[in-house]
Amino acid sequence: MVQLQVLQLLVEIMRILLKHQSCCKWSIVFGTAMLISVIFIMMDHKFPPTDRKVYKLLPVNQSEWYWKATAHITPPQPTKHVVECSVDNGMQNIPSHLPAPHRNFLMYKHCRKFPRLLSPTPCENDLFLLLAIKSTAIQVDRRIALRSTWGKRGYIEGKRVKLLFLVGKSSDRIQEYSLQQLLEWESRQFGDILQWNFKDTFFNLTLKEVHFLDWFSLECKWAQYVFKGDDDVFVHTSNLLEYVKDHNPSEHLFAGDIIPKAYPIRQKHLKYFIPKEMYPDKEYPPYAGGGGYLMSRKTVLSLGVAASSMDLFPIDDVYVGMCLLNINITLTHHPGFKTFGFKQVVSHFNPCIYREMMLVHKLNPTEMWTMWSLLQDPKLQCFIKT
Ligand SMILES: *[C@@H]1O[C@H](CO)[C@@H](O)[C@H](O)[C@H]1NC(C)=O
Ligand SMILES: *[C@@H]1O[C@H](CO)[C@@H](O)[C@H](O)[C@H]1NC(C)=O
Ligand SMILES: *[C@@H]1O[C@H](CO)[C@@H](O)[C@H](O)[C@H]1NC(C)=O
Repeated sequence: MVQLQVLQLLVEIMRILLKHQSCCKWSIVFGTAMLISVIFIMMDHKFPPTDRKVYKLLPVNQSEWYWKATAHITPPQPTKHVVECSVDNGMQNIPSHLPAPHRNFLMYKHCRKFPRLLSPTPCENDLFLLLAIKSTAIQVDRRIALRSTWGKRGYIEGKRVKLLFLVGKSSDRIQEYSLQQLLEWESRQFGDILQWNFKDTFFNLTLKEVHFLDWFSLECKWAQYVFKGDDDVFVHTSNLLEYVKDHNPSEHLFAGDIIPKAYPIRQKHLKYFIPKEMYPDKEYPPYAGGGGYLMSRKTVLSLGVAASSMDLFPIDDVYVGMCLLNINITLTHHPGFKTFGFKQVVSHFNPCIYREMMLVHKLNPTEMWTMWSLLQDPKLQCFIKT
């Protein structure tokens, strides 16, 4: 508004000056000078004055100031670049009787490298246990529950623990807001999102696995142990730490709820259906229930090497079993990993039972909070039955 008034005033002055023909020379000089100043004034007003004040207040190293001034975390982000992976021409003869997800899987099986979209804060030098949790954009309530219960960042019994969520790309929305926006916000707030640009589907979980293994061997290979699990398991973090006390991270360790002999499901209507075309053998190799398992650094790194030369298989837990077989790693069964929940229905939601467990599948966020608070209760008394 002010600029407009100034402009009007100047136009008026010019008009008056031009009327007096005798002083043409001077009026042109004066007018030009005025016009230049107007342009300067207008340019200056493009930047709100408050912004300029903020810039003046910043110290020389802006990134450092920002890091300290904000309570939350902004991890360094990778530059986005698009890598297209086209449908393999040689794969056109995929059996047409297979269900759509299976056909889709076979069509894209050769696409193994997708760009990273979001990165977590760097792994700390003294990282002891990395909790790598498979999640999807929509499961925000589960992530909130984990961050504030058993996945809390920091030190547990003097050992550094880091929580990390592994996510793909979802096109879902909440009202008109894309979940990508939500994830980006979460990433800035908590620095615990590791995301790649592939569709977050059930059959793409193996892609998540191989991308995680790649990331680990590049950016977190000094972490001593890794727990890999789902976002709906309750993990007794200090029991995990207790368990690894007797182990060495430079030796192999793969512990979980081991399924020694599972048969591929051949019924087309079931979630885990695998046709003979995709897996002809009668049995799967031994593998751990995907709710969660614990590995040493050496095992994770070896898995990464093995996976890079193995064809993808749609069920990620089985795929890990295949890789383990390939490199002759023994799977250790531990009864504390309840990846299929409890068999007995009666009073399974009992903190005294949970106290003895490594993990229990599956709890909703409210149950997660409840169990966590029960276990923290200093008055909790458990009597050993004799
Ligand atoms: C600014 O601070 C960051 C983080 O402390 C550091 O990595 C960077 O080198 C600094 N840049 C300059 C120009 O001092
Ligand atoms: C896996 O992700 C890729 C890339 O987003 C997508 O093209 C493909 O359809 C997905 N595969 C399955 C089986 O969902
Ligand atoms: C695994 O064991 C088999 C048979 O004992 C052997 O042939 C193979 O070379 C071993 N593989 C590795 C990676 O050690």
